Amino acid sequence: MQIVTTIAEVRAMVRAARARGDVVGFVPTMGALHAGHLALVDAVRPRARFVVMSVFVNPLQFGPDDDMTSYPRTLERDAAQAAAHDVDVVFAPSALEMYRRPPLVEVAPAAARSNEMALDAQWEGAIRPGHFVGVLTVVAKLFHIVQPDLAAFGRKDLQQLTLVRAMVQDLDMPIDIVAVPTVRAPDGLALSSRNAYLTAPERARALAVPRALHAMVAAWTDSGVTDADALTAVGRAVLAAESDVTVDYLAITEAERLTPVAAVAAGAVAMVAARVGRTRLIDNVAFAPPAAAP
Ligand code: PAF
Repeated sequence: MQIVTTIAEVRAMVRAARARGDVVGFVPTMGALHAGHLALVDAVRPRARFVVMSVFVNPLQFGPDDDMTSYPRTLERDAAQAAAHDVDVVFAPSALEMYRRPPLVEVAPAAARSNEMALDAQWEGAIRPGHFVGVLTVVAKLFHIVQPDLAAFGRKDLQQLTLVRAMVQDLDMPIDIVAVPTVRAPDGLALSSRNAYLTAPERARALAVPRALHAMVAAWTDSGVTDADALTAVGRAVLAAESDVTVDYLAITEAERLTPVAAVAAGAVAMVAARVGRTRLIDNVAFAPPAAAP
């Protein structure tokens, strides 16, 4: 496995792979790899002979109050894990390599222009203004640089996945987006690079997040509650029972545009964002009929 830092180098490697007839798979990351990232690699590998992983902490998607400077940077360890998972090349550019100047052109979701309560303006978008412009801009740039046939994104960042899919459709990018199920620690916490910020007592309190989602799904499957407000109240009660867990949002939406629903049917999604200490956690689960539940 090679680590390259320039656009020219990764392009040359992808060109050579294509010349050999390889299908190119892509896993964009911000590094600090965990099993969730490696599941993305495993998801593209069966279809892709050549796998590129990017490791880039994208300044454009961090707001002034976000954790850009403290975001964990562990390139050496990341590269070792990527190599062990058969990644062919890690592309780890500098901020200057990616943004030779502040971009004059960005990829803005429609709502950023119209101020509507559309997909990017709610949930994460409402709390982190400009975040998804930063995400879509860097993902579009990375897609142009790598030109993959397929790229993997985790379901944990459901709104990001939904917007990347919308971008690929709206801008006619010939890339298959592979959605990969959330990977959880044995205690149920969804894996995230930001979990590294949690102290041991905070981590114990953070378990209220998956517990709240689980309680909502259980009330739907086991007790037949379908009213979204009632189910949300179940989740809120679980979160409120834990000290120092501040809820940014807890909602039940349909899965296509993440619009809130009043009555919950199979396929709806419970989404939550909460802060435990200084760590912000997001998570979601789908309501699925028992037979189809994972
Ligand atoms: O999900 C992430 O790690 C980032 O948002 C991504 C997709 C790598 C873009 O910087």
